[in-house]
Amino acid sequence: MSELTKFDVIVIGAGPGGYVGAIRAAQLGFSVACVEDRTSLGGTCLNVGCIPSKAMLESSHRYHQVQHELADHGIEVGKVSLDLKKMINRKNSVVTAITKGVEFLFKKNKITWLRGWGKVESAHSVSVQSRNGEKKTYEAKHIIIASGSVPIELPFAPFDHKLIVDSTDALEFSRVPEHLIVVGAGVIGLELGSVWSRLGARVTFIEALPNILGNTDSELSTTMLRLFQKQGITFHMESMLKSVDTKNKVIARCTGKAEGTEIVGDKILIAIGRKPAILGLGLENVGVKMEKNGWLTVDDRFRSSVPSICAIGDAVRGPMLAHKAEEEGIAVAEFLAGKHGHVNYEAIPNVVYTWPEIATVGQSEEDLKSKGIAYRTGKFNFKANGRARAVGAVDGFVKILADAQTDRLLGVHILGPMASELIAEVAVAFEFGASAEDVARSVHAHPTLAEVIKEAALDVDKRAIHS
Ligand code: NAI
Repeated sequence: MSELTKFDVIVIGAGPGGYVGAIRAAQLGFSVACVEDRTSLGGTCLNVGCIPSKAMLESSHRYHQVQHELADHGIEVGKVSLDLKKMINRKNSVVTAITKGVEFLFKKNKITWLRGWGKVESAHSVSVQSRNGEKKTYEAKHIIIASGSVPIELPFAPFDHKLIVDSTDALEFSRVPEHLIVVGAGVIGLELGSVWSRLGARVTFIEALPNILGNTDSELSTTMLRLFQKQGITFHMESMLKSVDTKNKVIARCTGKAEGTEIVGDKILIAIGRKPAILGLGLENVGVKMEKNGWLTVDDRFRSSVPSICAIGDAVRGPMLAHKAEEEGIAVAEFLAGKHGHVNYEAIPNVVYTWPEIATVGQSEEDLKSKGIAYRTGKFNFKANGRARAVGAVDGFVKILADAQTDRLLGVHILGPMASELIAEVAVAFEFGASAEDVARSVHAHPTLAEVIKEAALDVDKRAIHS
């Protein structure tokens, strides 16, 4: 069979935005190819992001629990030791299983994987250069850019991937660092800092802002900061990295509140944000416009300034989240098929997989105050919940912000055990435009952690039962 050179849709990038968009486009009857240069599908998220970090978070959590939490349950364990190599191999096998799964889905949906680097040559053609240097050009009615993002580098501390590391390197250390310095107390820094702290490293953060986790509701970020400090993690807030020496050790010097402090560590993880990965895609040649911060400019149907070229995910405005990219992948395919793609940006959950976890949907109290929106607050603590007591995870709370006039949910903020799973109920409630009373009147199974959400919703009307 001769190789196809013409497709209805060519997607550049097989991350959660690209591969999901490719599958949806194939379901809708398009002939689809997806260009991916990595040796496995799934992009940053499946290969070196969400999935491997969750595997390491799970393993390190268990290691920590066995040492520090089982005695409370009357379980005595002997000497606990760490086989880091095995832990990392397990993480790699999780990644292999999940990325092979995407390969299977491509075959099932008859999507052609064009292996190599994709470059837009014209409004309707894409060249693909394979790793052995061979270059072929393919035609497409529609091109979808789903090229993702890359870590931001500090110009005076470029990644050497040994001592100055990025998030990918921090999933693969060959031994537990004695002291890990982390620049940036955002989601990546806190998740990976948690992994290595649980595995025995001393961890020190350097953070520019007065709060961790950027725009998160400040009641959550302040509480979480205290809990991290209780876990033994050190924070230099309102401080920025000024210089790094890397002879054998890392010596970090700061400006701001930590000015004059010299922090000596084994490695320094730079986790100060990510930027759209758009270099080398040939987009400037065809006149695709971009915004100042590097995002590709798109309309509400994800069309760039060249209408046959669409863009989704981390390459365009909005939160850099895998599930946001997935929804945009589905929506763009549906628009191309003449359907009504839909992404509700008001109802996108945001999750931080630390311990406890943080999960939020909607606006923070600071957002509402700055917009002058009148709201009522309901709050309930996990320590008053039977299941949380039984599990032994009582830190945290659920806070619900509801419109003062209509009672409609405006923001739900969870800090607590399994917040990542609990938030699904809230996202559905947001999608349906629910009020706090709708949530309060829904029957929640007993005993479950989810009852904390119900009680917080009842508390909006000051009628929580267990407080
Ligand atoms: P981030 O934007 O979440 O946090 C970066 C932090 O670095 C901020 O607190 C910022 O104030 C600080 N910072 C910036 N420059 C600094 C400097 N020079 N010195 C000290 N502090 C500095 O970025 P992060 O953690 O790198 O994550 C990147 C993206 O990846 C995020 O948009 C995030 O949404 C996504 N992501 C999401 C995950 C999840 O949903 N669980 C997991 C991992 C990443």
